[in-house]
Order: sequence, then structure tokens, then C-alpha cells
Amino acid sequence: MRRVLLSPGTWLLVSLVAVGSVGACSDDEGSGGSSATTTSSTTGTTSPTTTSSTTTSSSSSSSGGGGTGGAGGCVDSLPVLNEPPDLLSETGLYSDIATETIADNVKEFQPLYPLWSDGAVKTRWVYLPECQKIDTSNMDVWEMPVGTRLWKQFVRDGVHVETRLIIRTGPGQADFKFAAYQWAEDGSDATRLADGAENVNGTDHDIPSEALCSGCHRKDWRVLGFSALQLTHDMPGLTIASLSNEDRLTTPLPGGIVVPGTPVEQAALGYLHANCASCHNRDASGVPSLYFKVLQENADVASTDTYTTTINQTATMFPCGCDRVEPGNPASSAVYQRMSVRGSGAQMPQLATEIVDPAGLQAVSDWISQLPP
Ligand code: HEC
Ligand code: HEC
Repeated sequence: MRRVLLSPGTWLLVSLVAVGSVGACSDDEGSGGSSATTTSSTTGTTSPTTTSSTTTSSSSSSSGGGGTGGAGGCVDSLPVLNEPPDLLSETGLYSDIATETIADNVKEFQPLYPLWSDGAVKTRWVYLPECQKIDTSNMDVWEMPVGTRLWKQFVRDGVHVETRLIIRTGPGQADFKFAAYQWAEDGSDATRLADGAENVNGTDHDIPSEALCSGCHRKDWRVLGFSALQLTHDMPGLTIASLSNEDRLTTPLPGGIVVPGTPVEQAALGYLHANCASCHNRDASGVPSLYFKVLQENADVASTDTYTTTINQTATMFPCGCDRVEPGNPASSAVYQRMSVRGSGAQMPQLATEIVDPAGLQAVSDWISQLPP
């Protein structure tokens, strides 16, 4: 059920354009592999005991080694991992995988605007090293402490199919590793597989190869859903308010970052932020100057990149002869058109989906429809 890149007919030209740029879109090569050579570490080393400008805002960055004992005798309960383990049960997520009991030092969180994953039910958790804070001096891209672990579980049609893992291995901006674990059919454990798998455990769920993770989790913005904007809500689990109140952020911001606009505008801008901005943002390479990231500085809708780079802007890489967003007219808007497509190079997002998201398409359609022509 993997997406077909080349398809006949009118999409062919588009497909060729897309094929040429998928490589460019993955703007780093080191993900999932064991090489640390792509690191952009400011210190030139990945030694966990070395402090770095990317993590030093933490008052106790000398404890960056995690588990090695830091200032004031603080010891992180989990050591820094350099490589994802082979089994999910070895990653620290569970205290007992048989009963799916989550370890005490691991906390659940949910992003306000989830990524559409073809209807899979997803659950997310994080382990935050106890002796360090999250460097939130840039609210638009949090710097997670070295030793952080994040998981996302996928259940499709009631069946456990996959759990994904991200670990921060060192202080460099790119020092993260990604892993995908396929659940055994009997649910006893899940095993890491680097090359992905299709139609897992009798469902239509595909596990992407680990090389694809960094197509979205790019080197400038590795952790996507555990962010100021995405944790600004009252739902269960960790929130920006709880993290602020528990003194886990170098710059607390209990009120968080609220997407501007009316409920219709918020729904569309939030959706596009979550589902598209990992590739479409000012810092990403290999994409047209079309940006969907909502930033802390955006006080109103008209100041967002989503607004300024789409409204009445001619599509430059999609041969529709149309604007990216034509106010009042979703069907004539490239953004809407490409969200409506699967199975050709025109589809957006390009990766990790085979089914159009009806609710997301509706949210974007509602937004474009109410824009004054
Ligand atoms: C199509 C883009 C895309 C691809 C490909 C992708 N992810 Fe993600 N991932 C996201 C987005 C967006 C979020 C945050 C929203 C959500 O979780 O619904 C996320 C969330 C996560 C999380 C929770 C922590 C966080 O960053 O919010 C983990 C863990 C994760 N992904 C691991 C992986 C791994 C491992 C792979 C490769 C096997 C992968 N992802 C492939 C887009 C992607
Ligand atoms: C995995 C990275 C990635 C994600 C996620 C992604 N895109 Fe794209 N997008 C690209 C690349 C690369 C291009 C340029 C090549 C092309 O046109 O196919 C592009 C091009 C486009 C274009 C054409 C712009 C123009 O000026 O012609 C539109 C419209 C678009 N994307 C919309 C979206 C929307 C809407 C989403 C989310 C629902 C999204 N994209 C998610 C990588 C991505």
C-alpha cells in the first residue's frame, strides 16, 4: 500500500518534479543510522559530559550526561542512549510491557493539532531527564535535554502495529536518532526494523523506513509535537502550563502560544502547522517559499507565514495555473488540491499517508471559503 510516486496522466509532470525534490526535502542523511557525522554540534563533540550552547541555558547542564550525577547530586533515572535498542521493552517506556504499564518516570502528552496518520489512534510519551530543563529560549523550537526519549504508539483498527522512538544522543542540533518498532502479533513486544514494513499485522498500516523520519523531523526542528504551541491546551498529560509550574522550562510560559484567529482560522492554521510545517518552514531546505509554521510572534492571522505565503500567491512548483490559496475558492487553490490527492507525486504531505484526511480537508476548505475574495 505504499504510495505510487509515478502515475500516468496529468500528474506525470508533477510527479517528476516531486521525485526530484524528495531527496532535497530530506535535508539530512544521518537519521536512523549510526553515523554521527552529520552533527552540527557547536562543540565538535558528542560527548555527553560536554556542555554546549544548545543546552547550557539549563542551570544544571553539567549533568548532561544523565545518570552520571550532576550539580547538587542530581542523577537522571535513565542513562543517555547512543543507539535505539532492538526491542521496545528495552527502551524504558514500560515498567511491564506484558500489562502495558508505563514506567513512572515516563509521562504522556498530546499535541493540540495532531498529524493525520490515516486514522490510526496514537499515544505519545516522553522521558525528560530529571536534572535538566528544556531550553525554551526559542519558543518556536525547544531544545530538549540530552537523554530525552519520546515515543509514539500507533493502533490501527484496534491492532497494535507500531511504536516510534526518538532519542537525543548529544548536544549538537542534529544529535537525535530515530527508530520504528513493529509489534508482534501476540502483542508481547515490538522489534526495531530499519527498512519499514507494509500492511502490518493485517492492517493497511505501513511502517516507514527509518531513513524517512528525517524527511519531516528535520535537523533544524527534530521534535515536532512536544512544543509550546502544541502543548497549549487543557487536555490530560503534560502541558506547557504544567511544565512551567514544575520548573521544567528555562523560560516558563504558562499561557503558552495560542494560534491566532477565529475558531475556523485556528483550526486551519493549526492543522497546516502540524501536518505541513515540518517541511514548509523558513528554515527547511528543498521546498518552495511556502510556509505554514505559526510562530510565537504571530499576533494575528494576517502576520502568519501561512497567510502571507499562500493568499493570492501563484503556485510555483505545481502546474495548476492557480494560486496556492484563492480566497473564497478552495477547489481552485493548490493547497486544497494537493491535500485532496493520494498515490501520485502531487500528494501532500508527501510521506506517511495513503488516505485523504476528511476533517483536515474540511478545516482548510472552511478557512478558504470564508476568506473575502
Ligand atoms: C510526514 C511527516 C513525518 C514522518 C515521515 C515521521 N514523523 Fe514523527 N511526527 C510528525 C509530526 C508532525 C509529529 C507531531 C504530531 C503528532 O504526533 O501527531 C510527529 C511526532 C513524532 C513523535 C512524538 C514526538 C514528537 O516529535 O512530537 C515521535 C516519537 C515520532 N514522531 C517518531 C518518528 C519516527 C521514528 C519516524 C520514522 C520512522 C517518524 N516519526 C516519521 C511527522 C512525521
Ligand atoms: C515531507 C515534506 C513535506 C510535507 C510534510 C508537506 N510538503 Fe508540500 N511540498 C514539499 C516539497 C518538497 C514541495 C516541492 C515539490 C513539489 O511541488 O512536489 C512541496 C510543494 C507543495 C506545494 C506546491 C507549492 C507551489 O508553489 O507550487 C503545495 C501547495 C504544498 N506543498 C502543500 C502542502 C500541504 C498543504 C501540506 C500539508 C497538508 C504539505 N505540503 C506537506 C514537501 C512537503
